[in-house]
Amino acid sequence: MTFKSIAIAADHAGFDLKSTLLEELKSAGYEVLDLGTKDATTSVDYPDFGRLVAESVASGKADAGVVVCGTGIGISIAVNRHPGARAALCHDVTSARLSREHNDANVLALGARMTGEQVAKDCLHTFLNTEFAGDRHARRVQKLG
Ligand code: RB5
Repeated sequence: MTFKSIAIAADHAGFDLKSTLLEELKSAGYEVLDLGTKDATTSVDYPDFGRLVAESVASGKADAGVVVCGTGIGISIAVNRHPGARAALCHDVTSARLSREHNDANVLALGARMTGEQVAKDCLHTFLNTEFAGDRHARRVQKLG
């Protein structure tokens, strides 16, 4: 599957990295749905933003999602509470690649306080350009549903 539209959201801790990734996505030609938050100074709750991305992806409004919080942990947990959304918290390109190949992840989660900007960009491109391998992995992913 080739992703065309990407929903992206972050809490205040992830706002700066989200802004960087949003520009990266636009430059690469993706249709981007920015679901907030709007600044790095107003404290907000990551479950609210994880939910927005999960709903967009699960409903088909967006092909894939990107979520960012301080560690990436809270917002990935939030996304994974929604059926149809599979968030993978990635810290390197190998986890980003395998999350697509083996898990058919449809939401990339990143921790702005954990992962540098260049690694985050590399994770983003790897995630969006790697196909699900299917076969035995398809059976396992189906069981997640
Ligand atoms: C916010 O301070 C922080 O707790 C949040 O961004 C995230 O790291 C939670 O998992």
